[in-house]
Amino acid sequence: MWSEAEQNELAKIFKKYPDKRSAVLPALYLAQAEKNWLDDDDIAAVAEALDLTVTDIHSIIGFYTLFRKQKTGKYMVQICTDLPCALRGGEAFYHRLAERMGLPPEGGTTADGLFTLEPVVCLAACDKAPVGQINLKYHENLTDESIDAVLAQLRQEAQGA
Ligand code: FES
Repeated sequence: MWSEAEQNELAKIFKKYPDKRSAVLPALYLAQAEKNWLDDDDIAAVAEALDLTVTDIHSIIGFYTLFRKQKTGKYMVQICTDLPCALRGGEAFYHRLAERMGLPPEGGTTADGLFTLEPVVCLAACDKAPVGQINLKYHENLTDESIDAVLAQLRQEAQGA
């Protein structure tokens, strides 16, 4: 499951931990990075790499909401709706975006399977709300027009791929 680049990254991660089992969170982030969610093969690969059991990994994933076991879109669109951002219009921005994407208020995945939208708590960029990240890349001081342009660009890239 691990690509060569991921194996190199994993080796770097292991160097930071005296016991490689302690590297479970960064290893899971790495395993999740490419497609935004973890399937059974990913979970088994992390377990094997860290000398843990699949059950250990499932219990960790169940505890941390940032790890996903459900299939997501190619692009994970996370918009901060936490209070400081909400006061700068972040929550209203999120709801308008969900509506334009044809998604319910709690978010979800677009019919074409390209985008998954979800509200998130503080991304540590409160003064730049509305703020979000798409596949972990920050987008700040968002407007309806700017996020629509970003999503259109990503849609175009995905169709061209
Ligand atoms: S509350 Fe939204 S980034 Fe901090």
